[in-house]
Amino acid sequence: MKVCVLPGDGIGPEIVGQAVRVLEALRQDGVKLEMETALLGGCAVDAAGDPYPEATRKLARQADAVLLGAVGGPQYDTLPREQRPERGLLGIRKDLGLFANLRPAVLYPELANASSLKPEVVAGLDILIVRELTGDIYFGEPRGIETRDGANGKERVGFNTMIYSESEIRRIARVSFEAAMKRNRKLCSVDKMNVLECTQLWRDVVTDEAKNYPDVALSHMLVDNAAMQLVRNPKQFDVMVTGNMFGDILSDEASMLTGSIGMLPSASLDEKGKGLYEPIHGSAPDIAGQGVANPLATILSTAMMLRYTFGLEAAAARIEAAVKKVLAQGLRTGDIHEAGMKKVGTREMGDAVIAAL
Ligand code: IPM
Ligand code: MG
Repeated sequence: MKVCVLPGDGIGPEIVGQAVRVLEALRQDGVKLEMETALLGGCAVDAAGDPYPEATRKLARQADAVLLGAVGGPQYDTLPREQRPERGLLGIRKDLGLFANLRPAVLYPELANASSLKPEVVAGLDILIVRELTGDIYFGEPRGIETRDGANGKERVGFNTMIYSESEIRRIARVSFEAAMKRNRKLCSVDKMNVLECTQLWRDVVTDEAKNYPDVALSHMLVDNAAMQLVRNPKQFDVMVTGNMFGDILSDEASMLTGSIGMLPSASLDEKGKGLYEPIHGSAPDIAGQGVANPLATILSTAMMLRYTFGLEAAAARIEAAVKKVLAQGLRTGDIHEAGMKKVGTREMGDAVIAAL
């Protein structure tokens, strides 16, 4: 079982460090992972002038799974676009064909007060957002900024292309129907078919694919309404499926329902179950290097890795139970801290999870 570890930038190395310790603590349980570290993002630009260097590409392609921290930082924002850390992330997703991004938003009862919504609105919340990850306006061509003749003479125009093929929609629809079958058999597909042809096709294909899943109750929702319903009555949702762009936005929104973006893991899978696992939060440059970041989203990402790529359900469940236990013990990093709880740093949180294991 080969894992390519990509700590990345900002708080990345700190949180990945704790996740790796958790995986090592499970060695006695048959979790025998070979881990090798490489560079992705800003650190790779600094070292090799490329956010997704050849050495990383090689290692990531050979590995069964990838564990990623986070990429990016303000010092890279002025670099040419192809050298930005985010390009490294988009590059590895595309290169490995990781089209299915699973982003669960689960509210831990201990953190009900950390949510900005009323506890009764979010109590028991358990949503899975399935986001398409290798298509849409993120990758569509043509794209660019160029000077064109306009009514008032020459001016710059910026443009991107929103595009989905039927097969791309069908394969992500299948992933979401399969996920719904393992949960409460409710799937909501999110689009903007009242305006965008691309998402009319999305709705048509998802509707067609539903014929193969008669046990799943499929509904459709326009993205603006979905954004509203997520804060009005989030518990109406079980599984949501949507494109790359809408999924990016809705998954950040959903994360806040649970109190902290520092708690949420994600999996990005290819057709065969190879996956890249990462917290959904970013590199948090403002707190990097201070040892205060919340490692739980990354630790929970390792649980997803054991479950989805390696089929080690028992070990995955043990990690998740250990996280629940440390929360029940009252341990909190700064992002989820409240009065009466014990404030801990990144490493102490890792220690506590390992002890709970
Ligand atoms: C995410 C991030 C990325 C995205 C950025 C960093 C390129 O926001 O994983 O949600 O937009 O996909
Ligand atoms: Mg995002």
